[in-house]
Order: sequence, then structure tokens, then C-alpha cells
Amino acid sequence: MKKLFSVVLVLMIMLSLAACGKDSKTTGKKDKKITVGVVQTNANESDWRTANTDSLNNAFKEAGFETKMVFGEGDHAKQISQAQQLIQEEVDYLVVLGLQSAGWEDVAKAAKEAGIPFIMADRKLDLSEDLYTAMVCSDFEAEGNKAVEWLEKQALSDVKIVVLGGDTGSSAQLGRSKAIEEGAAKNGWEIVFNQNMKGWDETLAKQAVADLIASGTEFNVVYAENDNMARGACDAMSAAGITYGKNGDVKVIAFDANKWALEKVLAGEFNLDVECNPLHGPRIVKLINQLEAGEKVEKNAYVDEEVFDCDTITREIVDARSY
Ligand code: AHR
Repeated sequence: MKKLFSVVLVLMIMLSLAACGKDSKTTGKKDKKITVGVVQTNANESDWRTANTDSLNNAFKEAGFETKMVFGEGDHAKQISQAQQLIQEEVDYLVVLGLQSAGWEDVAKAAKEAGIPFIMADRKLDLSEDLYTAMVCSDFEAEGNKAVEWLEKQALSDVKIVVLGGDTGSSAQLGRSKAIEEGAAKNGWEIVFNQNMKGWDETLAKQAVADLIASGTEFNVVYAENDNMARGACDAMSAAGITYGKNGDVKVIAFDANKWALEKVLAGEFNLDVECNPLHGPRIVKLINQLEAGEKVEKNAYVDEEVFDCDTITREIVDARSY
């Protein structure tokens, strides 16, 4: 009888343990809230960045994740120490949006040693594939090449380009600048100005174009590596009585395709806007849920992006935009 009782007792203990809920395959925590550490670039960098930050926060909240988001505010070294701190705090996942492409090896190695999946978002970092779990990024050189292909189709006789670059060393700036520089070399276009604006700053871009105009530098294309800087350039041209856009003397090429910017494409103020999709939140939630379920994930995912041309855009297209 005693023997029967101890067998029943052991069985009951085993059953109660099994009923405690499934361990997550990755975090190993019984139904504990998943904590995601996010190293973001800057809080108020651009309208695009605001949409990106909102997408991450909203998607993570909806998924029931706890989010620890920190901002580098233009300081790469600060981002590195913030990432190290999040690893020390043993977040379950580390999502990095790097101000700079280079210099992330030590952080990635530390995350790997701590067993924390390292996810790159928005901007690809210079890391070998064994040092990150997954990437959800834009192909910035491809974005730039779409702009070059459009400019080639304009068949302008004498192309003089003003390049307003983004934050120096970010993969967004590096990719877009590489595309226009190689496109200019291939087509015999002249780049009359090529400077990166710290923090993708709209005011800096406006001032740079105003100074160019005041110096008498001639140009007929503005290649602005985001919408805010394109708007700054247009403000400077308006102030100087220079026409631009669909029926103007200067072609305006922008990147990001914020909704307000597409209104400018529709109005003929911007000639072309190349999309850079900021809505990474849902994509990263899907990744984390797959990892939690022990599923294999796509290592390198580039988000789908399109271009918006003032000659083909419609009111319906603009109204349908979500950011
Ligand atoms: O990494 C994407 C870039 O960063 C966007 O084009 C720009 O607006 C943002 O600040």
C-alpha cells in the first residue's frame, strides 16, 4: 500500500510540473514577459525616425513585450555602451539601429556569449553572419540606384547635382551616396556639391543650399538623402526665386516617402521620392515569436520599397500611406 502511495505521489508531482506551462525555446522562461532592448539612433532625427520608433514601440506593446529603448543621440560610442548595458541587464533580445555601420563586433560577440539574439533593424551593420541572428533592413544602395535610373530617363543635357547626404558613416548615407557617385561617374554627370548633414538636419540642408545659391554655383538636380533635407533645399530655392519640381528648373529627388512628402510629389514640388519603409515593428515581433517557438528564421530580410514619381502619383496613393 505504502509503495502504491509513493508512486501516485511521484506521478502527481510530475504532472503538476508539466502543467506549469511550456518553457520558451529561447528565453527558457516560463511565460515570463519577453524583454527587448532597443538601441535607437536619435529621438528627433527625422519624421522617418519618429515613424520607426513608434512602429517598434507600438508593435512590441501589442505583442506583450517589455521594451527598453535607448537613444544614441548622434554619439556612436554612447550607442555601444548602451548596448553593453542592455546585455548586462540580460534583455531577452537586442535590436540595434546603428548610427554607424562599423564598430559593432564587440557588442555582437558579448550578446552571443550572453545567449542574447542580436537583431539588426533599418541599417545593416558591418558584422559577419555568425555575429547576428537576423537582419530586417533597407537596401540603401538599391534605393539610390532607383533614383539614378529615374534621372537617366530624364535625359537632361547637362546634369549638375547637389548631394545632401545623411549622417556620415550610417549605412543609409553610405549606400545612397555610393549610388549617386557611381551613377554620376557612369553618366558623366557633375556633382557640384556633396556634403553630409549631421543628424540629417533640415536646417543645415537649407543653409547649405542657400550658401550655394549665394556663391553662384549652378545646379539643376538636388539629391537629398531624406525628405526633411529635400524640404530644406526647396525652402532655400524658393527664397532665391529658383523654380524646382515638375515644371521647375531644378529636379528634386528625396528619400523616405513620408506622407507629407508624397503630398509634395503630388503637388509637383518633389520630382521623385524613394521609399525607405520605417515600419519594422511587426516584422521584428514576427521574428521574435518565431525564435521563441524554436523556428528557423530568415537571416537577411530586405524590406520591399517603391518609388513615387510626380508624373504618375495619385491622390489615392497618397491617402493610402500609413506614415
Ligand atoms: O536609416 C534610415 C534613415 O534614417 C532615413 O532615410 C532618415 O530619414 C533617417 O533619419
